[in-house]
Amino acid sequence: MSVTILRGRTLSFRKLPRSHTDEASYVFEEDGAVAVKGGLIAENGSFSAVRKQFSDAEIIDHRPNLIVPGFIDTHLHFPQVQVIGSFGAKLLDWLNTYTFVEEQKYSDAAHCDRMATHFFDNLLRNGTTTAVAYCSVHKTSAEAYFSEAERRNLRMIGGKVMMDRNAPDALCDTPQSAYDDSKDLIAKWHGRGRALYAISPRFAITSTPTQLEMAQALKAEHPDCYLQTHLSENDAEIKLTLELYQSARDYLDVYQMYDLLGDKSLFGHCIHLNGRERAALARSNSVAVFCPTSNLFLGSGLFDEDGLREQGVRTAVATDIGGGTSYSMLKTLDEAYKVLQLRNQILNPLKSFYMMTLGNARALQLEQQIGTLEEGSEADIIVMDSRATAAMAVRMETVNTLSEELFVLQTMGDDRAVAATYVAGKSSHPDNG
Ligand code: GUN
Ligand code: ZN
Repeated sequence: MSVTILRGRTLSFRKLPRSHTDEASYVFEEDGAVAVKGGLIAENGSFSAVRKQFSDAEIIDHRPNLIVPGFIDTHLHFPQVQVIGSFGAKLLDWLNTYTFVEEQKYSDAAHCDRMATHFFDNLLRNGTTTAVAYCSVHKTSAEAYFSEAERRNLRMIGGKVMMDRNAPDALCDTPQSAYDDSKDLIAKWHGRGRALYAISPRFAITSTPTQLEMAQALKAEHPDCYLQTHLSENDAEIKLTLELYQSARDYLDVYQMYDLLGDKSLFGHCIHLNGRERAALARSNSVAVFCPTSNLFLGSGLFDEDGLREQGVRTAVATDIGGGTSYSMLKTLDEAYKVLQLRNQILNPLKSFYMMTLGNARALQLEQQIGTLEEGSEADIIVMDSRATAAMAVRMETVNTLSEELFVLQTMGDDRAVAATYVAGKSSHPDNG
C-alpha cells in the first residue's frame, strides 16, 4: 500500500489548553510530517524521522503552512444552505418566516442532491471534515446527505428531524412515521462506511409528547446513535415550551422526562439555563453546544463557556448554519472569542484550535478516529495558510509565537486560509483539489 508524506508545520492537541502558553497541551513540529497510508495516519513527527521510516513515500511539501486535523462542526442544518443571511428576525419568527419555507423544498430529491453538493463543498472549502447535521423532516434529505457524504468518504453524522406540530403541514411527520423513518435510516446508514446517525427531535415546540416518546424509544433501542436537539436558545422559545409542557420543571426537564439526556446527547445553544438544568446536563454527561455566530445573528444571547465547564458540563462548538452566518470554524471561533469577551471570559487561541479539533472529537466520543494527528487516526487533515490574504501577511510580520499565529488565523482567516483539505488521506478541497 502506498504511503504519502505531508510535510509542513504540524500541530495536534493532547489535552485542553489551560492558557495561551500551555505548551504541554499540544505537539508542534516546525519541520514536521504526517505519513498517510490506507486512509489512516501511519506516523507523525519530525520530517527527518518520518522520512527515514517511509523512504519510498511520495512527499507533498506544504511548508511553511500549518498542518492540523480537519475541523469538526457539531451542530448545523443541511436544509438551511439557502437560509443563511435571512434578515430581521429572532428565533421563532425566523423559523416561521424563512426556515420552514425553505425546508419544504427538501421533499424533492433533485433539490436535496444539488444542495448536498453545495453543502459538502462549503464544508471542505472551510476545512471542516466532520459535521453533525440536522436534515429536514423528509427521509429524502437524509438520503441525499448520507449518499453525498459516502461518495466523498466523509465521516459525517446526521439525522432527519422529527417534528409533528407547530410547523406547516408539509413539514410535519407523525410520531409513528418519525419513528419508522428514523428506524429505516438508522438501519441503512448508522455505521455504514464512515456514517453515523443522530436521532433528531427538532425541539420541544415542534414535537408532541407522543413524538418525544418515540424519540425515547429510538434512543433506548439504539444507544450507540447520537441524539441532538435544541435547548434554551431564546426567551420566547423557553416561554412557549413551558406552556406546551406544563408539568416540566424547566426546559431541560422536558427532555429529561423522556430520557433524552446522556453522553451521546448534543443540546444546541444552552444559553439561558438555570442551576438545576446545568447540574442535570453535567450529571448525565450531556454536551452543551456553543453556536456563537447564530446566537449573535438571532440575538439569542451569550453562552457561558467557563461557567458550564466549571460546573462539569461538557461543551462543544458549532456553526449552526443557517442561523449561523459562516461555514468557517475560524470565523465561528472568532465570534466565540467576542461573545466571551462580553462575558468577561477569555478564550485563548490554543483552546480555540483544541475546540475545533480534539475538543469536538471528544464531545462526539470520536477522539480515536478524528481530531488529532495521532498514529491510527483517520487521515482527515487540513493545511492552513496564515498569510492567505494581504492583510494577514502584513500582520504576520509581527507574529512571534504559535499562539499569536493561531489568533491571527482565527481573527482574520476564513476559507481563504484553508490551502488544502485531505479526507481519509485523499486531497478533497473542491477548488484546490
Ligand atoms: N430551534 C429549532 N429549530 C432550529 C433551527 O433550525 N435553528 C436554530 N438556531 N434553532 C432552532
Ligand atoms: Zn440548530
